[in-house]
Amino acid sequence: MVTAFFMPTTKTHIVAAALVNWYKKHKRALPWRKTSDPYAIWVSEIILQQTTVAQGESYYKRFLAAFPTIQSLATADLDEVLKLWEGLGYYSRARNIHHSARDIMDRFDGRFPSNYEDIISLKGIGPYAAAAIGSFAFGLKHVVVDGNVLRVISRLYAIEDPVDQTTTKKVIQELGQDMLITQDAATFNQAIMEFGALQCTYKNPGCQDCTLADSCLAYQGHLVAKIPIKSKKIKKTNRYFHYLLLETMEGQLAITQRTGSDIWQGLYQFPLWESDSQDADIMHGLQHLGFTNKKKPKNSEWYKQTLTHQYIHARFYHLRLSKSAASTYQLVDKQQLGSFAWPRIINRYLAALGYMD
Ligand code: ADE
Repeated sequence: MVTAFFMPTTKTHIVAAALVNWYKKHKRALPWRKTSDPYAIWVSEIILQQTTVAQGESYYKRFLAAFPTIQSLATADLDEVLKLWEGLGYYSRARNIHHSARDIMDRFDGRFPSNYEDIISLKGIGPYAAAAIGSFAFGLKHVVVDGNVLRVISRLYAIEDPVDQTTTKKVIQELGQDMLITQDAATFNQAIMEFGALQCTYKNPGCQDCTLADSCLAYQGHLVAKIPIKSKKIKKTNRYFHYLLLETMEGQLAITQRTGSDIWQGLYQFPLWESDSQDADIMHGLQHLGFTNKKKPKNSEWYKQTLTHQYIHARFYHLRLSKSAASTYQLVDKQQLGSFAWPRIINRYLAALGYMD
């Protein structure tokens, strides 16, 4: 059971209007707020699902410069799209946006669909993105529910149930929808997200000068520091990657492209052996990959990358590549390495070696 003290409808209307007024005064001038092109908005929302506004801006500009239209994205090579996405993480989002651009060409004649059902039918677009794109580009009256909105509404209504539970989310979505229908949908959705990002922040929210303090039940009840409540703590697993930098006599390196359903699908890497523990013997790895070296190769220090569900620990080894093994791999000049899309952990190592500009 989700418990919340409910506001009377008139109050809901006043709070929604106050949010919009606050937004008109405090909003940041962000590039995706200057356009009504659904394609550009789509790109911005997918990027912003996984990064900050500050980092997202440059990715957004580069992406649209490379692929200014749905058509240009649909005809692009997936490798090009992944290269532009490099460093953002969640590469399935890049694959999905590419896939959906082709889908829009096929099913909608190259025009971004303008109704909610068609928008959400696109791969990679869930309720959040469908509401964002639908409202910003077409004025559809669907409230966005992202982390900011969960925080703002759970505080406004002093909801002490975990916001990562489906039932709580549903209640919050309904409360948000009640507010949204009294306002212009695009403006309200931008306003409540911006309010969460700038005023009603997770840490140190600006309650002292908050325009909603009188209506905020968490503030009135001294519950702001406690809300939102989260129940799930994601348990992360450790993985140990050993990458072989196999170099030919001509100075080329062996690379492979990741396939399958594991992380980083479509990105490039060096031949990899994965071990169960940090102190595994690389000689087993060499044997496993079909190498018969007698001497233990020198290793780099451990590099670490934190993903949503995993910690990746990686080490790198330099070896000469034999002629017979060379045919198994794609060989590239060191100067070309920068044109491939790599996981961040590999990029960091290549940058440390001075192989990246
Ligand atoms: N985060 C997600 N979507 C956003 C938007 N349109 N503006 C600012 N921050 C956002």
